[in-house]
Amino acid sequence: MTNGQIIALAIGLIALVGAIGIFSLAFRRERTKSTVGTFDREAKVASRRRSKEVGAASPDAGTVTTLVEEDDAATTAEAPVETEVITVTRNQFDESRRRFLNRAIGASFGLYLAAFLGTTLAFLWPKLQGGFGSVIDAGDVDEIRRLTATPEGRIQPLYIAEAQSYVMPFEESEAAGTSFDGIPVIAGGFTALWQKCVHLGCRVPWCASSQGFECPCHGSKYNAHGEYFAGPAPRNLDRFQVAVENGRLLINTGIVEQTPKADKPTIVYPQGPSC
Ligand code: FES
Repeated sequence: MTNGQIIALAIGLIALVGAIGIFSLAFRRERTKSTVGTFDREAKVASRRRSKEVGAASPDAGTVTTLVEEDDAATTAEAPVETEVITVTRNQFDESRRRFLNRAIGASFGLYLAAFLGTTLAFLWPKLQGGFGSVIDAGDVDEIRRLTATPEGRIQPLYIAEAQSYVMPFEESEAAGTSFDGIPVIAGGFTALWQKCVHLGCRVPWCASSQGFECPCHGSKYNAHGEYFAGPAPRNLDRFQVAVENGRLLINTGIVEQTPKADKPTIVYPQGPSC
């Protein structure tokens, strides 16, 4: 599992806990609602009682209970329709408004959280097709062989930006008995080194004169096969799984392979002055 996937899962977990918190809050508010509902019914009964009292005391003086007559014919044919006016107190009104505002705030926060989670996951999750995190076609093996050797017989990395990798010559026979033996990080005579320094993640540039990778941040150095040579880096440069299909080198940037420092490096470093 890559670091991006771990971060994505951690964010997902945090968002899930947040969502559970919001739903718990909403559920608690629902329970509160039932208490208020009881109160509303009581208020309704009290209102009816008050209406009757007012009506009895002053039939002409305006009451909270009104009679609606639809038309003259209906008046004679049917009983008048009674419209009831419910009286609420100021506290009840405030309570209802507060409840509405709380729910609106909760819903807004939930929507924001969902949008944030979706955007973050979309950004971090490895792409299934194309781009870093997927299998990337680095090119024709013969062409790569031509590009990675100089006329002077020195190594020249082929940088594949989409894979964030340096493709380096590395024969399977050279890896026999090393930590690379048995893991699919060499194919067609090449390995694909991740450009990221394993100390704190700086991009490590190639140094043609020393024939190795030299990190500008804290001075870690690696040979042309990405094996640790010096500095605070804890291991070799990480690399991706590779394969050759139909004469083309494929780099699977979704699978990172870590290897320990080698006691006996597979290639000499340095082969000249450092950069
Ligand atoms: S990030 Fe490369 S040595 Fe620290």
